[in-house]
Amino acid sequence: MSEPAAPASVSMETLVSLCKRRGFIFPSSEIYGGINGFFDYGPLGVELKKNIRDCWWSDMVRRRDDVVGIETSIIMHPKVWEASGHVAGFSDPLVDCKASKQRYRADQLFFSPVTVEGRVIGYVSALESERTASELQEAAELMKRKKAVQGKLEPVAPRDMTEARPEEIELIPSPATGEPGSLTPPRSFNMMFQTNVGAMTDAASVAYLRPETAQGMFADFKAVWDTGRVKLPFGIAQIGKSFRNEITPRNFIFRSREFEQMEMEYFIHEDADWAKSHREWINWCKGWLMSIGLPESHLSEYDHPKEKLAFYSRGTTDIMFRYPFGVQELWGIAARGNYDLTQHEKASGVPQVVFDEATKKKFVPHVIEPAVGVDRIFLAVLCAGYAEEDVTDDKGNVEKRTVLRLSPRIAPVKVAVLPLLKNKPELVARARLLYQKLQRRYAVFYDESGAIGRRYRRQDEIGTPWCVTIDFETIEADGSFTLRERDSMQQRRIQEAELFALLDQKVY
Ligand code: GAP
Repeated sequence: MSEPAAPASVSMETLVSLCKRRGFIFPSSEIYGGINGFFDYGPLGVELKKNIRDCWWSDMVRRRDDVVGIETSIIMHPKVWEASGHVAGFSDPLVDCKASKQRYRADQLFFSPVTVEGRVIGYVSALESERTASELQEAAELMKRKKAVQGKLEPVAPRDMTEARPEEIELIPSPATGEPGSLTPPRSFNMMFQTNVGAMTDAASVAYLRPETAQGMFADFKAVWDTGRVKLPFGIAQIGKSFRNEITPRNFIFRSREFEQMEMEYFIHEDADWAKSHREWINWCKGWLMSIGLPESHLSEYDHPKEKLAFYSRGTTDIMFRYPFGVQELWGIAARGNYDLTQHEKASGVPQVVFDEATKKKFVPHVIEPAVGVDRIFLAVLCAGYAEEDVTDDKGNVEKRTVLRLSPRIAPVKVAVLPLLKNKPELVARARLLYQKLQRRYAVFYDESGAIGRRYRRQDEIGTPWCVTIDFETIEADGSFTLRERDSMQQRRIQEAELFALLDQKVY
């Protein structure tokens, strides 16, 4: 594994542009103008994403004796979502602007009264961002100037729209028009996508695209328990697509409407020390993120305040990542008691109990749930790995290189094979032979066009950890190649067997 990347600050524009230019991510259906909140992964993106999934699967499932994997259907019986509480409560507060037809998440739309020496002269609003408070303050100063009000302006006191009193709603300007009077009071908007199963489109045929993969593990708990030769504590893991009709998808793939989750439900005894298990899983998740190259300095923890937790929840801690748009949730680790299994037991009538040999008692197991989005990890590794550097070539010329310092575990291409010259058949033949051998085990790229330095740069930009150059020494002397390392840019001679050993050690 490579050293974690040094913290980098990169703008989202730069990343989005790199993703498009190099075929990591495209807007979905772009030829029709795109569709908000949906993305396609291009040839390099799909490799990077697959590697993230594969690393998680091998570390979470294959390399652990206490976790098994499953894959459940995306559309499940609608009663699953009634029992889980999603039909009644999986909603965000929505505010409409009647004038512009824009929609906002009420908890992301902030406002403040503008108060001059104790008198409210109007209201200002701003959308949630790193600068919300200063935007509101600037808007308040502008209002005071425009209205030519004398006296001392008091500092703004931002609240979000869920906290607005009914009499304030009419007075708060819409961020779209800048004018008050068009915002509606917040209302609940259920984020599940609905569909109909079968030929009839009536109430009885309504079904949902799953908004999380977790319910698959709860609904199949008994099936795994009865067949999987498992004993407590043990986990059931799944990777798969989830769908949420987010009111305001934003920040590229950070919050989208179709995304991929990697979730694990870790079932523990009802008398087990849940806090200890919870902490162990937080530590495991953090360690795993670092094992795929995220620097510890970009990670932090956020404990959800007790008063904001659902009644059944014992504690939730989010692992936060420092994205360019702020510190945001990457991975949530929740201690959920036995709420989910109990709900399914009640709704289905099928007992979800296990038998404790020691106490001769039956009980419903409790659960610790680490839940993370693949797309959020994808974005995090790009943010942390991106760097622009000045490098000096052999002739003393300084040029810029863009480099993605991705861990070899997840890099979309592990090694590029480059014949020094493309018009020397013996070099090309040897390079192609090595390429074909490497291809059987790794994602490899063959490139013979352009100056060697330019070819290295192309690989740096997509995060390829190593380039191997086949030169005259290879064919005329000892068969060794030049191995060029992405991060240090250092070169050394390497034999084929050594190259395979290096890859085997660093990639898996
Ligand atoms: N089963 C629990 C659950 O789904 P969550 O916090 O709603 O919890 C878990 O989601 C993780 O899924 C989040 O921490 C995030 O990484 C990812 N996620 C959630 N909504 C997302 C969205 N709209 N776009 C991308 N990733 C999302």
